[in-house]
Amino acid sequence: MKQNHFSIPLLGLGTWQLSGKECERAVKEALEMGYRHVDTAELYDNQKAIGKALQEVDRREIFITSKFSLDSVREKHVLQDVENLCDKALSELKTDYLDLYLLHWPDRSKPISESYTAMQELVRKGKVRHIGVSNFTIHHLQDLLKLNIPIAANQVEFHPYLYQEELWDFCKLHNITLISYRSLGKGALLEDPKLKEIANQYQKTVAQVILRWLTQKNIPVIPKASSQVHLKENLEISTFSLDEKDSRAMDALHRNKRYCGESDPEFAY
Ligand SMILES: NC(=O)c1ccc[n+]([C@@H]2O[C@H](COP(=O)([O-])OP(=O)(O)OC[C@H]3O[C@@H](n4cnc5c(N)ncnc54)[C@H](OP(=O)(O)O)[C@@H]3O)[C@@H](O)[C@H]2O)c1
Repeated sequence: MKQNHFSIPLLGLGTWQLSGKECERAVKEALEMGYRHVDTAELYDNQKAIGKALQEVDRREIFITSKFSLDSVREKHVLQDVENLCDKALSELKTDYLDLYLLHWPDRSKPISESYTAMQELVRKGKVRHIGVSNFTIHHLQDLLKLNIPIAANQVEFHPYLYQEELWDFCKLHNITLISYRSLGKGALLEDPKLKEIANQYQKTVAQVILRWLTQKNIPVIPKASSQVHLKENLEISTFSLDEKDSRAMDALHRNKRYCGESDPEFAY
């Protein structure tokens, strides 16, 4: 499948709420099927299970994203704390580098700029290939861009009900790859009648047309799936293309609806 400018696979596996043996099994199955990107975070508490699953593949073929929270970074020990968090991720994942390391969400009461500068040190030391952020708005990105440190990616909630066109345009302008998370609205979008109609037309599932809508825009996706059926279904999206008309009809479903909110333990910002 096509890759974007910093060579992140367009389709990856999300792992929020996968843990222990179930996580190890799902990641192993995904890798066997051909998935080449695994998304995790310190918060998910599943890096050890993912590390076990990764032992059976050539590390160089796999793209690993992890994230850390500013909650664990002390004002006076930023450099040390950020490096310790990265070392913990590396040790749990049993690897000596991360392809992408993200600051999980912005918090203006914490040392954001200092932490991002500390992340650049990780790149210099070879522990991380690319650095970026998650859940950053245009304002947050504008602040960070002042540091003149590349922002490889911004991982945000993005799907037909939350078509954040302005943020996406801003990211493109600044060479920041927007990565879509919660692309299926955690399953809620699968019941949409218009999406069902489009899916029927292509004889595909609603999940497949949503993932195709995103990847056709060159937006990387990381749907979480634990069952073999879902894993396989999500992988098989490069065999068809959506017509311009249908893609536009999906753009028009935007209603500013978020599924990642305060009630969710993975509360964004
Ligand atoms: N950076 C952030 O702040 C942030 C926030 C949220 C999520 N994320 C990342 O993004 C990933 C994806 O988001 P998410 O897990 O919240 O939600 P999601 O990917 O939108 O939805 C996952 C749900 O959809 C189901 N599903 C997957 N493929 C399906 C298919 N083909 N047909 C029907 N149902 C299907 C899964 O079921 P089964 O498990 O039963 O297969 C699971 O219940 C996360 O796992 C995480 O890695 C990041």
